Amino acid sequence: MRAGGRLRLRLRMRSRLTERVAALQSQRALVHRERFRRTVLRRDGVHCEVQDAVANRWLLNFCSNDYLGLSQHPQVVAALRAAQDAGSTASHLVCGHDALHAELEVALADWLQVPRALLFGSGYMANLAVLQALLGKDDVCVQDKLNHASLIDGARLAGCAFKRYPHADADAAGRQLAAHPEGVALLATDGVFSMDGDVAPLHALVDVARHHGASLYVDDAHGIGALGEGGRGSVDVAGLDVDDVPLRLVTFGKALGGMGAAVAGDAALIEHLLQTARPGIYTTALPPAQAAATLAAIHIVRGDEGDVLRDRLQSNITRFRVGANARGLTLLPSLTAIQPLLIGDDAEALALSQALEQQGYWAAAIRPPTVPEGSARLRITLSATHTSEQIDGLLDALVQTPPSPGSA
Ligand SMILES: Cc1ncc(COP(=O)(O)O)c(C=O)c1O
Repeated sequence: MRAGGRLRLRLRMRSRLTERVAALQSQRALVHRERFRRTVLRRDGVHCEVQDAVANRWLLNFCSNDYLGLSQHPQVVAALRAAQDAGSTASHLVCGHDALHAELEVALADWLQVPRALLFGSGYMANLAVLQALLGKDDVCVQDKLNHASLIDGARLAGCAFKRYPHADADAAGRQLAAHPEGVALLATDGVFSMDGDVAPLHALVDVARHHGASLYVDDAHGIGALGEGGRGSVDVAGLDVDDVPLRLVTFGKALGGMGAAVAGDAALIEHLLQTARPGIYTTALPPAQAAATLAAIHIVRGDEGDVLRDRLQSNITRFRVGANARGLTLLPSLTAIQPLLIGDDAEALALSQALEQQGYWAAAIRPPTVPEGSARLRITLSATHTSEQIDGLLDALVQTPPSPGSA
């Protein structure tokens, strides 16, 4: 093809792309699926100043994953500031593996009572890494229907057979495994489900995995730090160890208050991830300052202060649930910091979130595809640092602000 022809073809393709993007954008607007970001100007505990076209405003945050308030803990912030280097300068396997990274991996393994841990840039990348490194086209990955998007994407990346069972149904997981007897089988579940807040039936899943010769992988992004003795998460609450759950995901961006992640567990599997997991190999290592902050966070979480924070979080959860019940609000059956208020309709969920904002509360509306169709919700999250008055205030605001369909 001549140069002029190629240019015309490119221009036609580019305008097709523009048209497609514009069409999808108006479709999203029509069905209340547009996503938008709020810019946070300042944070002061659970108070956030957010940017607004009319006037910036302070909101009480009820949608962060900072379950213990560690993102602003003086020791965590001081550790971050004290680290000497802003960046790691390369991937772990070239020259980016800092002494703070090495120390953090040892501290994680010691804390979680597993042989080894391996750092990743984020929980999303860690999940891609685990599934891509362990599974191939002859293998199967069986997952809960409500697993996090990164587990789903990881299975797709691995190119294995991918089967999903109805939420928390261990028997159905067993049937899926039985239907795929060949190759390696990995059963993967969130420990605490990110949008529903309930805890996976880990005991039953361990039994099913054993019965079918599969390995269980638990993504404990929302359990670690917040649940279990010493904050060891949902696996610890269930009384399980590395023989039952050979690998688990720990994220640093939620109860630990920072960012990044690690996979913790069996030494041989971890070594295999180090050698082969592309989302770990071909990327810059976390900033050493972030490793220092996570070390400080783990120190707090494991110690007496961690117990105090978890107790406070637990009493906030109880206060919220009892208060919701007394006010006639129906919550999902979650006993964790994630307390979703199911609305159903996207526009209604948005309208309720916006009305709450007018009263000074920030509870984000979560809509499909993050949650299944027809199950839009307010994902209300609690922190150890909320006060009783703040929780009661949110509950009162929820009752005074019935969702008004179509007003979004
Ligand atoms: C269950 C679960 N797994 C993994 C992730 C990804 O973790 P990260 O935010 O560190 O990428 C999230 C984050 O929202 C999550 O909720």
